Amino acid sequence: MDKFLLDEKVAVVTGAGSGIGKATATVFAERGANLALIDFNKPNLENVARDIKQKGSSPKIYVSDVSDAESVAQVFESILSQFKKIDILANVAGIWESIPFLQLPMTNIRRMLDINFLGYVNCTKMVLPGMVKRRYGKIISVASVAGKEGSALGSSHYAASKGAINAFSCSMAREFGSYGININTVCPGLIQTPMGEATGQAGMEGYVKKCALKRMGQPEEVANVISFLASDAASYVTGQAWLVCGGTRFD
Ligand SMILES: NC(=O)c1ccc[n+]([C@@H]2O[C@H](COP(=O)([O-])OP(=O)(O)OC[C@H]3O[C@@H](n4cnc5c(N)ncnc54)[C@H](O)[C@@H]3O)[C@@H](O)[C@H]2O)c1
Repeated sequence: MDKFLLDEKVAVVTGAGSGIGKATATVFAERGANLALIDFNKPNLENVARDIKQKGSSPKIYVSDVSDAESVAQVFESILSQFKKIDILANVAGIWESIPFLQLPMTNIRRMLDINFLGYVNCTKMVLPGMVKRRYGKIISVASVAGKEGSALGSSHYAASKGAINAFSCSMAREFGSYGININTVCPGLIQTPMGEATGQAGMEGYVKKCALKRMGQPEEVANVISFLASDAASYVTGQAWLVCGGTRFD
């Protein structure tokens, strides 16, 4: 059996309406997973589901704001009643903004942490009990290079939310490794998505200059790594923060 495939696996992808989440849902579908897709943007989510259906898969969609713990709990209840189990969680939903720290309102900092960090915590909380019971599970969360080295673009709160994801994920890996659950993050560099392009021309050019591969990444290039980490081919990888940055940072 090809260990890179996700046949018979049930995978939940958050932020599936755009960019890296959409690419992850598509790659998961191509590798045989049954999909539950979450986003708070209903029209985008419907478009993604329609595109994936044309490839022969039948994803179910769930509209929810991942920072709303109550809504997340309801959605995961529905997913479990529909699919009976969850093997894979890809935490991808996120926001970005650039505001210099001295002008940055506390409400923006809280919102950033609520979505980018606590949103991942909310979803992780919902899948772990079933994974522990079945002694099987893969959780992959999208952090960022900024979570390792901070941000020079006035996005200190974004960088902090991503650093929190790395530390949280590593801790979860230690706590749940004995149950056969693999928990990792991917840390993308600048990726060509609506969010990546929102960094502006100067930000993109500066990035390309320092990147060994001399280009931005494509969402599929991140999705392929997420899919590898979600598969049994990565069975001995846990607690890691995988750089997918075309060589802009070397750990
Ligand atoms: N694009 C990049 O350069 C880059 C780099 C590093 C990390 N990332 C991370 O990758 C992830 C995906 O980013 P992207 O570039 O695909 O962005 P994107 O803006 O294209 O997609 C983000 C998706 O998340 C959804 N979303 C946002 N907040 C949500 C919420 N509270 N509840 C539910 N859905 C929500 C949006 O509706 C959207 O569909 C994010 O976590 C982001 O921080 C992106």
